Amino acid sequence: MNKITINKIKYIDTFPVRSAVLRQGKPIETCFFLGDDAVGTTHFGLFIEANLIGVASVFKTSNKNFDNKNQFQLRGMAILEEYQSTGFGKLLIEEIFNFIESTQVELLWFNARESAVPFYEKLGCTKKGASFEIPEIGLHFLMYKYFDI
Ligand SMILES: CC(C)(COP(=O)(O)OP(=O)(O)OC[C@H]1O[C@@H](n2cnc3c(N)ncnc32)[C@H](O)[C@@H]1OP(=O)(O)O)[C@@H](O)C(=O)NCCC(=O)NCCS
Repeated sequence: MNKITINKIKYIDTFPVRSAVLRQGKPIETCFFLGDDAVGTTHFGLFIEANLIGVASVFKTSNKNFDNKNQFQLRGMAILEEYQSTGFGKLLIEEIFNFIESTQVELLWFNARESAVPFYEKLGCTKKGASFEIPEIGLHFLMYKYFDI
C-alpha cells in the first residue's frame, strides 16, 4: 500500500503539477500566480510516497461579493490527470477545509472551472451568480463555502 501524505510546500514546487494540469502548453511563467510568494499564502501538496501528484493553494484575498472580513481564496487546485477521479482531489480539499477551520476564517471563495463545479458542489461548495469567461482558460463560476467559527 502506497503512503499518501499532504504537506505544505513552496510555491515553486507547485509548478510541475500546475503546468501539466492547468497551464498545458503554456510557458512555465504562467504557473506563477500573483501573491504566490506572499506571507499569507499557503501551498499544499499531495504525495504518493515521494511523488507530488496534486496541489492547491490558499491566498489571503478578499472578494467584494462577500461581506466577510476574513476570507481565503482557493487557487491552482490540480490533480495529475492519471490520478484524477480516484478520490485524491477530495482528500486534498478536505485537508484545506481543515486548515481553514483551524485559522478561524469563515469564508473560502474561488473561481471554479465549469467542468470542476460538480466536484466542488459534492464537497459542500455553492455557486454564486452567472458564469464568466477567464481569457484563454474558459468559463468559470464564482463558488464559496462558509465555515463555522
Ligand atoms: C477537479 C479535480 C481537482 C478533482 O479531483 P479528483 O481527484 O479528480 O476528484 P475526486 O476523485 O476526489 O472526486 C471526488 C468526488 O467528486 C466527483 N467528481 C470529481 N470530478 C468531477 C466532475 N468533473 N464532474 C462530476 N463529478 C466529479 C467524483 O466522482 C467524486 O464523487 P464521489 O465522492 O461520489 O465518488 C481534478 O479532476 C483536476 O485536477 N481536474 C483538472 C483541473 C481542474 O479542473 N482544477 C480545478 C480548477 S477550478
